[in-house]
Amino acid sequence: MRRKVIAGNWKMNMLPNEAISFIQELSEKVKDTENEVVLCVPYTDIFYSVLNAQGTNIKIGAQNMHWEEKGAYTGEVSAEMLKAVGVEYVIIGHSERRQYFAETDETVNKKLKKALSVGLKPIVCVGETLEQREQGVTAKIITTQTEKALDGLEPADVEKVIIAYEPIWAIGTGKTATREDANEAVKQIRQKVAEKYGQETADRVIIQYGGSVKAANAKELFEMSDIDGGLVGGASLKAEEFSNIVNYNK
Ligand code: PGA
Repeated sequence: MRRKVIAGNWKMNMLPNEAISFIQELSEKVKDTENEVVLCVPYTDIFYSVLNAQGTNIKIGAQNMHWEEKGAYTGEVSAEMLKAVGVEYVIIGHSERRQYFAETDETVNKKLKKALSVGLKPIVCVGETLEQREQGVTAKIITTQTEKALDGLEPADVEKVIIAYEPIWAIGTGKTATREDANEAVKQIRQKVAEKYGQETADRVIIQYGGSVKAANAKELFEMSDIDGGLVGGASLKAEEFSNIVNYNK
């Protein structure tokens, strides 16, 4: 049985004092869940978040990283740096980074390999635009992104990767994919993993859905056969709302 992983993506929101009170409030509300709870916070919140999440079942993640260990890369943060401050997860290739910060399938692949090599758990995002969905090329887009992201990995490493299927037209728009469409897309991604790395690996890899997940739709989505939790943006900014998503099966 795959575990549900429910990760908040705060994006460029939350000051350290807000992060601290959020984690104090959330930790109380999610202490009895069997689901994995992750908060992917801005770099400036990481230190405070890790400290305040100690002794709780909340894990802290980052939203990006560089693939080099160190060097002349002004403004960048390495996987080693994240690991050293207690980060456990890292989002890689979010569509906002692909769209606004020139992230490519190639840089996603480099980052993924680097994250795994230091023991960070990568959450790699794939997803189609509205135009691509209307053209009927969703399956091709998301399976190609998946293939390129995982290129060169051993099956044992692929199992450690979390894939987030995030249709771009559903991110921050209030439009959610129907649970059938979301499950179908996730199945296509799993099928591609099976083709490349074997059925056993595909059965183990966690694949989330993301895009306007909220407390009101979390249950119907997360109960689908292939959807293993979610990557949650806007609705992860309120502790009460996010805790209701985490506790969707309570
Ligand atoms: P949203 O964002 O939940 O606000 O749609 C999801 C994401 O970008 O990961």
